Amino acid sequence: MNNQKATNITWHDAEITKTDREKLLAQKGCILWFTGLSGSGKSTLAHAVESALYEQKHLTYVLDGDNIRHGLNKNLGFSPEDRQENIRRIGEVAKLFADAGLIVMTAFISPYREDRNIARALVKENEFIEIYVKVPLKVAEARDPKGLYKKARAGEIKEFTGIDAPYEDPLNPELVIDTSQLSLEQSTEAVLDYLKSKNLV
Ligand code: ADX
Repeated sequence: MNNQKATNITWHDAEITKTDREKLLAQKGCILWFTGLSGSGKSTLAHAVESALYEQKHLTYVLDGDNIRHGLNKNLGFSPEDRQENIRRIGEVAKLFADAGLIVMTAFISPYREDRNIARALVKENEFIEIYVKVPLKVAEARDPKGLYKKARAGEIKEFTGIDAPYEDPLNPELVIDTSQLSLEQSTEAVLDYLKSKNLV
């Protein structure tokens, strides 16, 4: 998909590279892409990982669906097209953060495989870590932290993921975290262990 609109634009290379910034920060810029149902624990886990990395003096940033939809993506709803554009923008923003040398964590349902793969293809192979935050729908629905499943079942919210909109689970994620089986501490450890095993931190 090439929707390049502007013409007469020229790419400008910078003097300071990603590698320079990574040396400064003593880490590798990368994207931890958390995906899963609403209520699966994506944001909670991303923020716990962020706290643990902060303790180890790593620079991180969490892009969270509900927050980004208040600003950058406030003009988008939940149709398949709008979700696609939501994820396209987040992929591009995450790429910029990773290029800045940060460990950026995205916490979006990102229900479509194709959209996640488009985000993955924006960066190098080892820079995109897809983390499937997996829970049975029943568990997410029982948690219902925002009361949205109840509303979706009552027909008050349309196109709700897991109810009347699809979630396509990742086929080859780098990590699967089942938050119905693991504690928050165990889930956080699993992510940190992965980062260490890949020499990202
Ligand atoms: S995504 O599908 O486009 O990736 P995103 O992660 O940005 O979704 O936003 C999901 C959050 O929006 C949910 O956690 C929930 O709080 C809220 N939300 C409101 N309406 C819906 C809906 N129809 N489907 C899913 N989430 C919704």
